[in-house]
Amino acid sequence: MVSGTTAGSSNEGSLTTPLIVAIDGPAGAGKSTVARALAQRFGLLNLESGAMYRAFALKAIRARIATGDAVALETLAQETDVRLEPGEMGNRVLLDGADVTEQLRSPGVTAAASEVSVHPAVRRWLVGLQQALGAQGNVVMEGRDIGTAVFPHAPVKIFLDASPEKRGERRYEQNRSTAVPTEMPAKVLEEIRARDRRDRTRADSPLKPAPDAVLIDSTDLTLEEVIERAAALVEQKIGIGK
Ligand code: DC
Repeated sequence: MVSGTTAGSSNEGSLTTPLIVAIDGPAGAGKSTVARALAQRFGLLNLESGAMYRAFALKAIRARIATGDAVALETLAQETDVRLEPGEMGNRVLLDGADVTEQLRSPGVTAAASEVSVHPAVRRWLVGLQQALGAQGNVVMEGRDIGTAVFPHAPVKIFLDASPEKRGERRYEQNRSTAVPTEMPAKVLEEIRARDRRDRTRADSPLKPAPDAVLIDSTDLTLEEVIERAAALVEQKIGIGK
């Protein structure tokens, strides 16, 4: 369960004030990997906000509620408990007390998560939970609206982007190496574009960089380069930068 503990193992930086690192960006930009690396390096709690939308989407699918039915989803949200259990390799997700982590990455849940996330009542509920999780600080939280809506005062805000083609390629390779049902590269790219469109154009807290976010375009960078740039931003904030 989320408590006052930190997820990291090697505490290179010593934090004197509670730190919040907000990482936003579209699907497949590498947010989770970068968040995990920062959590380990700086001893931060790593919280994946997207997993909460995914868990709620799974519940809606199981309840056979259409992702466009705002009223039914709001009622469903009132009787739903979503928790994150941070760990070294990512978050375990508990939906009404049951571990659903392995069921959250299927194409059906992925699309439904993006669809349920357009509803203001769903966002209000999950943003409230996310703010409570991050209230003690010393967290890195990744998502779409962390720097704009969840933690608008986060001292470090990163907007991680990459071309849709590159993100599609990475997601395809990632899916192939896991238990996620494999789709053809063209289909993965098509889904990334559809999700981008929905995430960026929804009326309530659309995906966009906060005015004070630092943009990192990872299209032509290696993962290590992205992590080093992100880590340098954190180091600047906590005063151990060169
Ligand atoms: O980060 P992810 O792919 O697990 O997110 C799944 C969906 O959840 C994403 O398409 C949009 C939604 N989401 C959101 O609206 N706001 C967030 N902070 C995180 C995710």
